[in-house]
Amino acid sequence: MSQNKPINHINPVISELKGEKGFLYIERAKQLASKGYKVISFGVGQPDIPTPDHIIDKAKEALDNKVTGYTETNGIKGLREAITEYLNNRYNAQADPDDIIVTTGAKTALFLAIASYIKPGDKILIPEPSYPAYGEVARFLGAQPIYIKMDFDQYNGFRIDIDKLEEAIDSRTKMIVLNNPHNPTGKVFTWEEVKEIFQLAVDNNMLILADEIYDNFTYEKTFKSILSIPEWKDYVLYVNGFSKTFSMTGWRLGYLAVKKDIARSLTRLAVNIYSCAPSFVQVAGIEALKGDWDPIYKMIEEFRVRRDTLYNELSNIPGFKVWKPEGAFYMFPKIDEILNSIEMDVERFVEYLLDKHHVVTLPGTAFPDKAGDTFIRFSYATSVEDIKEGAKRIKKAVEELLK
Ligand SMILES: Cc1ncc(COP(=O)(O)O)c(C=O)c1O
Repeated sequence: MSQNKPINHINPVISELKGEKGFLYIERAKQLASKGYKVISFGVGQPDIPTPDHIIDKAKEALDNKVTGYTETNGIKGLREAITEYLNNRYNAQADPDDIIVTTGAKTALFLAIASYIKPGDKILIPEPSYPAYGEVARFLGAQPIYIKMDFDQYNGFRIDIDKLEEAIDSRTKMIVLNNPHNPTGKVFTWEEVKEIFQLAVDNNMLILADEIYDNFTYEKTFKSILSIPEWKDYVLYVNGFSKTFSMTGWRLGYLAVKKDIARSLTRLAVNIYSCAPSFVQVAGIEALKGDWDPIYKMIEEFRVRRDTLYNELSNIPGFKVWKPEGAFYMFPKIDEILNSIEMDVERFVEYLLDKHHVVTLPGTAFPDKAGDTFIRFSYATSVEDIKEGAKRIKKAVEELLK
């Protein structure tokens, strides 16, 4: 009877959406920690280092100055100028402040971009494994995510097979997602690969949703953005933000870059969803981009050390096939042989590590669709000491299970 109340009649598409497993495991880890266990977390996708003080001070100053009201939906001019300066100086993007829509985190920018172009029945190509939001937003809109499995080998890492992408394209394919540097694999696509994907979009009259939220987290070479391709404005919906680079996940600040007449149209959707990003957070965003970058460079150097530590530690665990990632702060080893030997699927294995050894990792299945089902994701946004302790516990767990 009570099931029949209107409150229970949620749009079925909502019930079918998958949550983000990262958030689920963070909750479980918190519960274990509250019981007094020392939990080591390789789960969270956020830097463990706090937002630098000068950014926090700027937000406080803005609040003291009563910067507390609505702003223009596309963001305050000073922030849009700072963003274009960043994109132009680094990537020669030739962007204009009117090409920018400031959003409440990169996720809102992704939603805005996908929702503004994708209609029911359309298809979006997504190299897999993948950050889950692209496919879930597509499904929410009645569109179809088409996952294209990336090739993997331990020595060369992950690769998109352009032929496979091309074969999957039909008249309903409207968009291809390029997340670079890549979550969850840590892959940084080569400039050749980026240009090939861009050309594929041009040849097939498709859009590219380019998510470069990890653009500052590269460890081998300087990152080159898709915005360096002079014709990007006719094909690219560009997403970036402050969450990772400035360790500002909780501030909710991101942006979408698209050519300005399109930005003007997309702002109509933005105003109906979130009105604007928080005003004092936008002021702090200017400080983040234009202020002192030393704490950021230090953080990235620290992440490089952590990457190397985790790589060395995991490489010593029997059955872990580890490729050393070039960017972001994730590692995605393949553990198919372990799973076969112990007859567990990856989700059970991850639960086992959490329940019995209090180590949080994420199953590769959290990065849809199926390509991740023999992989496990590590975030190394945690101290070197914890990385060593966590890896030690996992090694012990694996050795016990394989006995
Ligand atoms: C690839 C990718 N894009 C977007 C986001 C979302 O960023 P934000 O917290 O700014 O919404 C994340 C967060 O983990 C991510 O990994």
